[in-house]
Amino acid sequence: MPNITCIGAGYVGGPTMAVIAAKCPEYQVTCVDINQERVDAWRSGEPPIYEPGLRDVVNQCLNRNLFFSSDIPSAIKSADIIFVSVNTPTKDFGEGAGEAANLYYWEKTAREILACSDSSKIVVEKSTVPVRTADAMSRILNSSHANLKFEVLSNPEFLAEGTAIQDLERPDRVLIGGNQSTESGREAVRQLVDIYTHWVDRERILTTDVWSSEMSKLAANAFLAQRISSINSVAAFAEETGADITAVSSAIGMDSRLGPRFLQASVGFGGSCFKKDILNLVYLCRHYNLPEVADYWEQVIKINEFQKHRFVRNILQAMFNNVVDKRIAVFGFAFKAHTGDTRESPAIDICRQLVEEKALLNITDPEALPNARRDLNDLAGRVNCEEDPYKAAENADAIAVLTEWPQFAQLDYQRVFQSMRKPAFVFDGRNILDHQRLFQIGFNVHPLGRPPLSHL
Ligand code: UDX
Ligand code: UDX
Repeated sequence: MPNITCIGAGYVGGPTMAVIAAKCPEYQVTCVDINQERVDAWRSGEPPIYEPGLRDVVNQCLNRNLFFSSDIPSAIKSADIIFVSVNTPTKDFGEGAGEAANLYYWEKTAREILACSDSSKIVVEKSTVPVRTADAMSRILNSSHANLKFEVLSNPEFLAEGTAIQDLERPDRVLIGGNQSTESGREAVRQLVDIYTHWVDRERILTTDVWSSEMSKLAANAFLAQRISSINSVAAFAEETGADITAVSSAIGMDSRLGPRFLQASVGFGGSCFKKDILNLVYLCRHYNLPEVADYWEQVIKINEFQKHRFVRNILQAMFNNVVDKRIAVFGFAFKAHTGDTRESPAIDICRQLVEEKALLNITDPEALPNARRDLNDLAGRVNCEEDPYKAAENADAIAVLTEWPQFAQLDYQRVFQSMRKPAFVFDGRNILDHQRLFQIGFNVHPLGRPPLSHL
């Protein structure tokens, strides 16, 4: 049975390998990372990331057929199949800065695989990389050892954080891109298909050429983000004209051609992928001389920035155009519920804009406070992190809900109201609270994409 190695034990690599190890007990799975602290956490059975159900899956196979290590050369050497799941951040220097992907880690990893290999291997691209990267990888890998053959496959990961384990266990589809024109290419695809058929129906496993697979991942993320920007743009329109975005979302979503998901108006999308992948798409379209296409997708990001800014502007306007030294309880800092991840979280920009207006912030979040402290550490004097949402709201002038954690909807708002300064405001950037009830308690309620309920 093949030995599997994964390079990069992050949000994608860690959960993916844990599920493969659980579903394929006869395979030995080793996950390596340059970050020793992360490796130690995985090895202890306490994953370094919060993901519902992950700890159980890891502990089911840890030291049975799932291993974590920082010895990258040995893990490469012993592997038959290598998944590459290192990060591909946006480039912040030189050509394409701010848009193109920084492929430094990917290329470094490819060279490392080449240097440490003494047998032929299948290399599986898990990281989202711009189309045609696998081709570059293949050229690097097959550049020197005439007697070794590296087949590069694209197998994009579609898991969403917060539901990673269920997404991995019951994927909508698994996509595998490979070189269909050679026997060794087809054999590599077959080997990867064999892994997934341990728990995924064969008809849900799509095989294609490498380029189509890479492009599908970029396009899927761009479409998902576009839906959010579309509904958020309609939310802005609804607020101005007195419509209710929740009713509009339901009405749109009942059209079976559109479907109900990803129509939740919000303070904006976050997460490590959407913005990065769209910027990448924009860069590539410009590169291929398709400026109209590039502008089209760029607008998805612009609306997202607008939405965050608009939320802050609404807070300011409602609070008499002044938040200087006013205390705002920020409910939620993670980019979505059920994760502690704050990469590209809309909360980062919103908190920074509020502090620019000289507000004082009490941030509360069940999982993301360590990351919030790190993300805003330069604002320490004006930002305070508080585990207990009741304490975060004490003496505050307003509450701003930025993450849809269900526990925020279950608080005793009568008690919260009593502890706050008056007039007390709620800005519900996720529309998860009972607005009528809050209004009856005495709050001035500002939902997203719906008319405010105000006593003023
Ligand atoms: C990453 C990419 O960001 C995403 O585009 C892709 O789709 C999947 O992989 P994620 O797992 O969320 O997503 O990133 P992160 O949690 O940062 O994990 C990457 C890991 O790779 C880190 O733990 C990092 O230490 C490790 N790494 C990075 C290496 O082991 N070697 C390297 O050379 C670079
Ligand atoms: C996304 C893709 O869903 C996944 O397939 C891909 O592999 C990685 O990127 P993720 O970023 O983990 O996953 O979370 P997702 O559930 O897609 O949410 C992204 C952002 O959109 C979050 O900030 C979320 O709050 C926001 N969102 C989502 C909305 O604002 N409204 C919605 O209706 C749905």
